[in-house]
Amino acid sequence: MSTQTLEKPPVPALDEARAFAARRHQLFIGGRWVEPQSGERFATHDPATGAHVADVAKAMEADVDLAVHAARAAMEDTAWAEMKPNARALLLNRLADALERHADEFAALETMDQGKPVRDARFFDLPYAVDLLRYNAGWATKLNGESISLSGPGTWHAFTVREPIGVVAQIVPWNAPIAMAVAKIAPALAAGCAVILKPAEETPMTALRLAHLIEEVGFPAGAFNLLTGFGDSAGAALTAHPGVDKVTFTGSTEVGRLIINAAAGNFKRVTLELGGKTPCIILPDADVGAAIQGAARSIFSNAGQICNAGSRLFVHRNIFEQVVEGVSAIAEGTKVGGGFDADTQMGPVISSTQRERILGYVKGGLEAGATLRAGGREIGGPGAFVAPTVLTDTDAQMAVRREEIFGPVLCAMSFGDEDLEQIARDANASDYGLGAVIWTNNLSAAHRLARKLKAGTVRVNGGGLDPALPFGGFKQSGWGRENGREGIDAYTEVKSIAMAI
Ligand code: NAI
Ligand code: MG
Repeated sequence: MSTQTLEKPPVPALDEARAFAARRHQLFIGGRWVEPQSGERFATHDPATGAHVADVAKAMEADVDLAVHAARAAMEDTAWAEMKPNARALLLNRLADALERHADEFAALETMDQGKPVRDARFFDLPYAVDLLRYNAGWATKLNGESISLSGPGTWHAFTVREPIGVVAQIVPWNAPIAMAVAKIAPALAAGCAVILKPAEETPMTALRLAHLIEEVGFPAGAFNLLTGFGDSAGAALTAHPGVDKVTFTGSTEVGRLIINAAAGNFKRVTLELGGKTPCIILPDADVGAAIQGAARSIFSNAGQICNAGSRLFVHRNIFEQVVEGVSAIAEGTKVGGGFDADTQMGPVISSTQRERILGYVKGGLEAGATLRAGGREIGGPGAFVAPTVLTDTDAQMAVRREEIFGPVLCAMSFGDEDLEQIARDANASDYGLGAVIWTNNLSAAHRLARKLKAGTVRVNGGGLDPALPFGGFKQSGWGRENGREGIDAYTEVKSIAMAI
């Protein structure tokens, strides 16, 4: 769903975005733009049309090695390692200002490469990225330790300091490329780490543009490095490299598992934001109109390609039909099309592979006895479009109910007068535990249910992401938290110092 509150669509800076795409793209290593060692390049395409967007450099193991050395050198070089916290904050704030100034161009580039409606890119992803930079800039000057009272014999002055972890490899997916890239680099740079960012092979463009801004605002050489490349080569080499101290990853649970194994070699610190199967629970007293809108937005935004998409809807039977009809009507009424069309509310999915994968889940569900209430079909055209889909009569064993689909597919279920305990048990019946949403006006039920849900983030009556609110998963949705104080602490090591005085 697009942001409906805008009076008029922005004028996308398409010319600037096209001019940038047409440039010769290289890798950014140690403060310089360089050709990949292999000389190889790969193409990126517009998922709405299949059109060629750009050719970018293909980083391989040799480039990973150079980037790791450049990042290590930055951690030893005074320009970055001894930069004062307020100077790091200033650089991040300058980057925020630059990103804000170029927001139209970034939005156009994002839509060209990723497909999402340009209004969503311009008025959600870009402002969020700018906010993330400013929020984390604020932490740079506040990463303090504690003084500690010791109980052993003698007189002691003991305290902790927080030091940057060191070289961090940051691997991001294609669903929100610029927002994800910034969510990774902002806290890492605020903490004083040296970063190697690898965007998804499907969507390298805004990360490339971002690297130019990082260069312009004057980060010291090697503090930020960019490798465009594939997961199984550049990504795998980064996660196995002994010179990398930490890996931060957002993507599939399957690759999360590979990263845990690869990181074991030198005990890299690992933060993982993986899949989800977020339950959305509507209690009988809820504001039904708001809940219908919220439930639809939660699963159809970004064509369902959100780790936290509300893909399982649990509704009290008294209002079940009303909610299913409401969400299905929104699904059927959603204008699906190219992200640059002014009336588009939902763009394409990232690729025809993803389209087939999503439609495969729907087909499997229907064959197993589910009922189709909306969508369920592909939409013709050269691009990878999927109609927003609503299913009922699924059961807990079906793949469509259990697995992350990462598309605009909702499974709706009803419950009766069970207690909150049983509702929570059904909602928790998942390998994932990223988010949960509750719709109710019953304060007591909201609090009690929120505590019973096994999810990293529970939202009551709507809401979205905020740089200050920790975000991450229970169970197979990941390790650790991003955002908030937890998010920046994750880029630091605590050192205890005790002095006999
Ligand atoms: P993926 O997990 O393979 O890709 C995400 C990132 O990981 C990309 O930058 C990719 O290059 C990198 N990568 C892939 N293999 C790697 C490896 N062996 N070592 C290091 N990095 C590697 O996700 P993919 O294949 O694009 O999508 C498949 C499914 O994964 C989706 O349908 C969705 O269910 C899930 N997914 C979940 C995301 C989330 O935010 N939770 C984001 C993207 C995908
Ligand atoms: Mg993959």
